[in-house]
Amino acid sequence: MAGYYPFIVGGIIPHCCIFHGHNLYCYLFMHYYSSIIDTIGNTPLVRLNKLSKGIKGTVLVKVEYFNPGNSVKDRIGIKMVADAEKAGILKPGGTIIEGTSGNTGMGLALAAIAGGYKCIFTMADKQSQEKINILRAVGAEVIVCPTNVAPEDPRSYYSVARRLNKEIPNSFYPNQYDNLSNTEAHYETTGPEIWDQTEGKVTHYAAGVGTGGTICGAGKFLKEKNPAVVTVGIDTYGSVFKKYKETGFFDENEIYPYLTEGIGEDILPKNVDFSLIDHFIKVTDKDAAIMTRRLAREEGLFVGWSCGSAVYGALEYAREYLKEGDVMVIILPDHGTRYLNKIYNDTWMKDHGFLESRDFATARDIVESKNGADRLVTIDSSMKISEAVRLLTKEGISQIPVMEGDQIVGSLTDSKILGQLIEKPEIKDTIVNELMDPPFKFVGLDNTLDVLSSLIDKENKALLVRDDLNRVHIITQADLLAAVAG
Ligand SMILES: Cc1ncc(COP(=O)(O)O)c(C=O)c1O
Repeated sequence: MAGYYPFIVGGIIPHCCIFHGHNLYCYLFMHYYSSIIDTIGNTPLVRLNKLSKGIKGTVLVKVEYFNPGNSVKDRIGIKMVADAEKAGILKPGGTIIEGTSGNTGMGLALAAIAGGYKCIFTMADKQSQEKINILRAVGAEVIVCPTNVAPEDPRSYYSVARRLNKEIPNSFYPNQYDNLSNTEAHYETTGPEIWDQTEGKVTHYAAGVGTGGTICGAGKFLKEKNPAVVTVGIDTYGSVFKKYKETGFFDENEIYPYLTEGIGEDILPKNVDFSLIDHFIKVTDKDAAIMTRRLAREEGLFVGWSCGSAVYGALEYAREYLKEGDVMVIILPDHGTRYLNKIYNDTWMKDHGFLESRDFATARDIVESKNGADRLVTIDSSMKISEAVRLLTKEGISQIPVMEGDQIVGSLTDSKILGQLIEKPEIKDTIVNELMDPPFKFVGLDNTLDVLSSLIDKENKALLVRDDLNRVHIITQADLLAAVAG
């Protein structure tokens, strides 16, 4: 069903035009879809620009909120319903019953509206109120069940859905966890789209793992096209997947409540084919939440919480393993509106310890706190390393921007020089240009401490910021510590 199937009433195509950056054929005649479900799929691939800085290769995200139900799950909703109709399991006037974290419910609800079915969804109470309201808005009945009970407990949302399916005549329980139409939907649509959109150049495919359909369906297709494609599954702390993949042991001690919605499990769904997932990376609720907010602020991608998990985990992998020329595709499953009262709400973030409980200081506060006392010390790229060491010692600093004229062309840190000098003492006579690292990153004056601290790490020892008078200031880890300590 994926694709653009315009109904063209009339004759010839007079010309081609550019509309909103896409090549679209413009007809003199009407063109439209026969139903909203025909708009599912063919979501765009977008390059990450800021968050992927320093990573070799190209990092692309597939933005699934372009689907009409705003998530990747629209793809499996229509597929599971179509397959059930074909198999005679779902008959006219029937009821669709599913345990869902919200997105699959929306996909099923859209398919149900098109096919004239009723919907009842069971949901864990950790899910956002927005998700519940959205499903009710499209006509579904939603039953909220406790999160912190075992899957086999009769109160769990899995058990309630199964019980209702037994009790209600002419009902269909799609069971996205074990229904292989889920994986098949991604094998038929997501995988081919990624292959075509990258012209077969994709080398790495990363996606969060919940039911497993997204990673395994598209992963299977891509590996059939090119067995060298590496798949990276993103898991959460509190879920069994990573340990099971690495040891073959279903460790119940790995299971504990977590907050990220849509990924990680306390069961092994049939849609998770571990042979198709090369690596698992676990991401904490907090790292995922902060990365999701950065996706919105730094890339303009207003996406859901598990998108932060996927990007955080995939970038961790990419930083270490991606090579020049590699192309990584990361699935962003859903839209940010469903999380407005959670991770996009500063009070909620503070209450959960994901943000400082006081107002966040910014780069501007750090610059102003120094009161003009932070004269930027720089070094010319043609100086000798021995002179650089003398300068760092004299100024009592650990890192320094490297200049060519008035251009910042690189950076130097005392730890790098020390490491190199111990290995080869003779480098003291080489010039800075030969040993320097790329320049420190520039940040905006209004970037908050959470963003700044996420940009300073072992590789990026300092940040640069331009004040309102265009003067450059350096922000180091010590500055951040001082600002956090107040
Ligand atoms: C928001 C969100 N992210 C990621 C996933 C994981 O996708 P899959 O179930 O295909 O493994 C889901 C699935 O429920 C989801 O709702």
